[in-house]
Amino acid sequence: MSSKDRYLKVVELARRRGFFWPSYEIYGGVAGFYDMGPLGTALKRKLESFWREWFVRRHQDMVVEIETPIIGPARVYEASGHVESFTDPIVQCTRCGRLFRADHLVEEALGIKAEGMDPRELNTLIKEHNIRCPVCGGKLGDVRLFNLLFKTTIGPYTSNTGYLRPEAAQGMFLAFKRVHGVMRNKMPLGIAQVGRVARNEISPRQLLLRVREFTIMEMEFFFDPDEDYSSIVEPIASEKIRIRTGEDKRRGLEKPGEYSVGEAVQEKIIMHPWLAYWMYEASRFLEKLGVPLHKQFFDEKLPEERAHYASQTFDQVVWTERWGWVEVSGHAYRGSYDLSRHMKYSGQDLTVFKPYTTPLKRRRLRIRVNKASIGAEFREKTPKILAELASMQPEEAEAALKEKGYIEVAGVRLTDKHVSIVEEEVVETGKRYIPHVVEPSFGAERLLYILLEYAYSEKDGRTVLKIPAFLAPIQVVILPLVSNHEGIVRKALEIKEMLSNMGFTLYYDDSGSIGARYARADEIGVPYAVTIDHRSLEDNTVTIRYRDTWMQERVPVDMLPSRLRSLLAGKEHLS
Ligand code: ATP
Ligand code: GLY
Repeated sequence: MSSKDRYLKVVELARRRGFFWPSYEIYGGVAGFYDMGPLGTALKRKLESFWREWFVRRHQDMVVEIETPIIGPARVYEASGHVESFTDPIVQCTRCGRLFRADHLVEEALGIKAEGMDPRELNTLIKEHNIRCPVCGGKLGDVRLFNLLFKTTIGPYTSNTGYLRPEAAQGMFLAFKRVHGVMRNKMPLGIAQVGRVARNEISPRQLLLRVREFTIMEMEFFFDPDEDYSSIVEPIASEKIRIRTGEDKRRGLEKPGEYSVGEAVQEKIIMHPWLAYWMYEASRFLEKLGVPLHKQFFDEKLPEERAHYASQTFDQVVWTERWGWVEVSGHAYRGSYDLSRHMKYSGQDLTVFKPYTTPLKRRRLRIRVNKASIGAEFREKTPKILAELASMQPEEAEAALKEKGYIEVAGVRLTDKHVSIVEEEVVETGKRYIPHVVEPSFGAERLLYILLEYAYSEKDGRTVLKIPAFLAPIQVVILPLVSNHEGIVRKALEIKEMLSNMGFTLYYDDSGSIGARYARADEIGVPYAVTIDHRSLEDNTVTIRYRDTWMQERVPVDMLPSRLRSLLAGKEHLS
């Protein structure tokens, strides 16, 4: 099977059997938008549920899920930095007027990495190498920045600008204070969200990999930056993780290195244990989807490639036959950037109070001011003097008084007649801090494509979609061996009814030969086929056929549901 074939076959299968197809088809289509068909929708729901299971439910003592709006007021995205910085470089052909993403054009023309280059650098490369329009060969204009936010208006007032969210993250930052409250001030705290986002990508392409509207599965994980969290990676310290560090990347190394999680944290390859913990979880999540560890790694972004809010970022990349390494999730250390910005723009206090187990008694210096003597001597200058004294460090005042016998404020000299330094005891019950954040962020559509590519296989010239059984959009197909035998059909319909009432996702198929029906089920990834035959009428047994091996076993009908359940849970396999 050639590499091109696998991609084209996945696309062809997806269209023919209803996983996904381009949106707005009858109007000629609009680039960057895809419909999910019945199978695609079912598969995506399963993928989202599994993401929730892996990142939220398994961590339910510290991670919760919320839902927030897609449209937000301009102020939110000014505060988040997206209005200013969520941009990609764009360049226009002076002849045909087509617009291109400038860094991608340079990458394709010169075979170098251009992500993160500023418009000036890109311009220079385009001019120096005489890079032309890839469509008409025309001369390219100047590179400029294009903002990827979709803009709208909120309500009837055109001045009331709103933006469609490009990430779910801001919803979590804005809700942080409330969620923290309802979680009874627990820290660390993860807030997760699965929802639609929109990015006005310059040139959407590569099928589902770069679209203009997609589902993001994202978590903001808040913690105290002063606490030592090294123990959280202890249970996974010897587990392996593959990373291409920024340093390796600068040295031109293509291959990632293999590290233990413990080593990656200790040597500060990953800057925080929580970032390492969620990266480890992400690698195992992908493994469960069918991507072995040697087909994925974490690629550190160079400072110039990082988003404006991040102080360290890793892209989790997966090998694809046609596109090479493709990013499926981003893992960013966002620090206190977002909460600090929202505090500044909203004027609200988003800090967390952490009580000490025993209150701390501390001695501290204070400047005691003799207002009467200052007022009497300096009159109208008094307010200015008092204001400057209020912002003065007592230690600094004490040193000046000791050394020079006076302190200079607002152009006057104050002596011990006007001020004195006193020591007092204060009791601190806790500290206030702005939590730091690490963020794992997954694109559902990219994962869905990856899932299909990794599941796609052929056997004896037939397609078999080996989606892990627990993710299969349809779990069981019910097949009467023949469709013209009343007893077999009746029994098959009874079994269908029973399994359906028990919550299995299934369909009934009685058209065509049994071989053709198995083949139809195999190509959409139905893991188990239940066949009702003549013997079923005699001894109340049916066969279960397993998609991946085509092996069969016979089970009594009353054991069928429990047998299917344990097979679907992946606890055992028909071999
Ligand atoms: P890229 O560099 O490919 O544009 P990004 O670095 O902008 O991606 P992030 O901002 O980290 O991506 O977004 C988080 C995740 O969302 C990505 O890892 C990816 O899975 C998904 N994603 C981002 N942009 C798109 C898109 N245009 N279409 C589909 N999925 C996307
Ligand atoms: N929230 C991750 C991103 O959109 O980049």
